[in-house]
Amino acid sequence: MRFLVTAGPTREHIDPVRFLSNPSTGKMGFAVARAAAKAGHEAVLVAGPVALKTPRGVRRIDVVSARDMLAAVMDELPAADVLVMTAAVADWRPARTASRKLKKGEMKPVLELVRNPDILRTVKKSLGASRAKKVIVGFAAETGEPTAEASRKCREKGLDLVVANDVTAKGAGFGTDTNVASFVSPDGSIERLPLMSKDALAARIVKRAVLWYTVDGMKSRA
Ligand code: C5P
Repeated sequence: MRFLVTAGPTREHIDPVRFLSNPSTGKMGFAVARAAAKAGHEAVLVAGPVALKTPRGVRRIDVVSARDMLAAVMDELPAADVLVMTAAVADWRPARTASRKLKKGEMKPVLELVRNPDILRTVKKSLGASRAKKVIVGFAAETGEPTAEASRKCREKGLDLVVANDVTAKGAGFGTDTNVASFVSPDGSIERLPLMSKDALAARIVKRAVLWYTVDGMKSRA
């Protein structure tokens, strides 16, 4: 099977030396791509700007902005069986990007922003009725317990699984090597997982996605 994984933050440039971004390090997405390759699958990793080495056996495509990430995902989408969207995509970007460094005096104290495309929603829309051929896994950063909100998001975005992280939990969140997560399904069921390494969580996500892909229901909907 072929896994397509998004990872890391995106950068939304104001000018060549200034941007909007977030503290994502890409560790979770890189772990998913590594786990998929280790399990004998093809893995393509669409990575925002991160300081991580490409896992063995993984094809990596580097991107900067949300719009770059969307374009790379759409290119790779037809060949993918499983999509795992771990990237912390910036929801907004500056309305204008200057091609040269702006002088302090040229900048206004208020920055005008426009919404970025939602990659998951765009993917789902473009697949239309054929979506059933692909397993789609999303991530949700939560503060506290995963809620009905996460399963609503799962249904609304047309996902097969949402991995909800409690970013306030000890050992979870940006930059850590461990994570505390729950698997939230579209039927509303929630499986709470204990604290574990991002590698262990990644292996479970890969296993779950393969299971989903191979169950009869999935095949017959394809
Ligand atoms: O709606 P929310 O941003 O909480 O959803 C998070 C999920 O959606 C993650 O899997 C993330 O990678 C994905 N996402 C996306 N494009 C965006 C924002 C989020 O693919 N612009």
